[in-house]
Amino acid sequence: MVVGDVEEGAELVVIGAGPGGYTAAIRAAQKGMDVVVIDKEEVGGICLNHGCIPAKALIHASKYRADLKHWDEIGIHTKELDVDFESIQEWKEEVVDKLDTGIEQLFEAHNIEYKQGYARFIDEETVRVEEEHDAENVKFEKAIIATGSRPIEIPGFEFDKERVISSRDLLQLEEVPDEIVVIGGGYIGMEAVTKFCKFGSTVKVLEAQDRVLSGFDEEIVDHIRETSACYGDEIYTGVTAKEAVPEGEKVTVKAETDGENIEVEGDYVLVAVGRTPEPALDGLNIEKAGVETTENGFVDVDEQLRSSNENIFAIGDCAGQPMLAHKAYREGKVAAEAAAGKNTAFDSQYIPKVAYTDPEIAAVGMTPMEAEKQFESTKVGKFKFSASGRALTANKPDGFVRVVARESGKLEGVQIVGPHASDIIAEATLALEMQGYLDDVANTIHAHPTFPEVFSEACEDAMDKSIHKA
Ligand code: NAI
Repeated sequence: MVVGDVEEGAELVVIGAGPGGYTAAIRAAQKGMDVVVIDKEEVGGICLNHGCIPAKALIHASKYRADLKHWDEIGIHTKELDVDFESIQEWKEEVVDKLDTGIEQLFEAHNIEYKQGYARFIDEETVRVEEEHDAENVKFEKAIIATGSRPIEIPGFEFDKERVISSRDLLQLEEVPDEIVVIGGGYIGMEAVTKFCKFGSTVKVLEAQDRVLSGFDEEIVDHIRETSACYGDEIYTGVTAKEAVPEGEKVTVKAETDGENIEVEGDYVLVAVGRTPEPALDGLNIEKAGVETTENGFVDVDEQLRSSNENIFAIGDCAGQPMLAHKAYREGKVAAEAAAGKNTAFDSQYIPKVAYTDPEIAAVGMTPMEAEKQFESTKVGKFKFSASGRALTANKPDGFVRVVARESGKLEGVQIVGPHASDIIAEATLALEMQGYLDDVANTIHAHPTFPEVFSEACEDAMDKSIHKA
């Protein structure tokens, strides 16, 4: 029952305090707006609390364990290893808490009011915030919807948090399971393999398409499949999962491949078949605010992230693909500036993507095949980490950087599989954003020995002048 019914006003209400929402709030405050942020959970959203950050912390810890082989190769011998998963989980939570506290402090520093509660539009200029027995109405001049997405639930695989779990539940496991079955070989599925295979679990992936990580170039994905046992035999493609049957401490997954029925058993089944914005948007009553959606269920926005209601913007996962935190960060800045009356727009041409496999894979811009379709003639260069002094001194010689350019040398795309791919892709993205040429990268003096030299050498290779390639 509602016992309090207060009304207050704000120039800008931001609904959702994830990467998109909290960035938008801070940028709007920097522009002088009076901002209220509402989230039903803690600040930081899924990425910080239940996604990107805890996942990368566990991947980091799991790589330490797996790296022992490398230590041995370089002469550091260890006795038996004791992996205390409970302590690793505690450390991971500490990392999350530090980042959460950082956002709270930023809100304080910018005089941003944070309300924890469930927000719903009641009309085109009012949001109702409900928290336990209290409720209040907040009138706004502008609003930004940043409510993210939820995992897609498929028939036969309803989440029970016991055996049939989401990526959020996976990150909370108290011990390392013996066997996990993963439905879906996308980002979440393959990163689950990275973490738990390296902690010692057997991770079996069932992917409906004929290859995993279908958003990445085939040669890049084939490389990790061929060189790492974790991404090898236990990854089954062309398999459609049909039903999970939990029984005691086990769960059996029934699936179909080439018209044949198969069964795969594990301690848990992780369902990672994509995410959808719809449940959160439905709960928000966006229709009462005159906000329309596309046929795919995203809020329909223009290049300023403005919805069908000109005073309401939408950013991040709920505003369209790709569902990536760094896209949400950028959109948050653009929407906040537009709400503050600035003339700005979101440019989606070069959004890098990274999958935290081991080695990592990353890409931005066009693949050689895409470039060939668009331009009469193209140049492709490739350089392997095995010829890099830095990669060899780090005992990480696996992988390569590939670049594609127009005949004129104008860079069009970069794909990386190898150590620090997630970092090297930043220079590649900047080069593309600056409309750079192969020469621009090749003539930039790269510190030696460093991993990004491999990108520079790949650009030189595209011009047939790589120094270190035979
Ligand atoms: P996804 O869209 O990346 O992959 C889902 C996969 O499930 C697809 O390959 C699809 O073919 C497969 N699938 C669907 N139904 C199936 C069935 N019945 N049986 C077998 N396979 C089936 O979605 P995912 O991995 O859930 O990730 C969700 C979102 O989160 C992605 O859009 C991604 O952008 C984001 N994300 C990004 C990360 C990063 O940037 N490193 C990390 C984790 C998530």
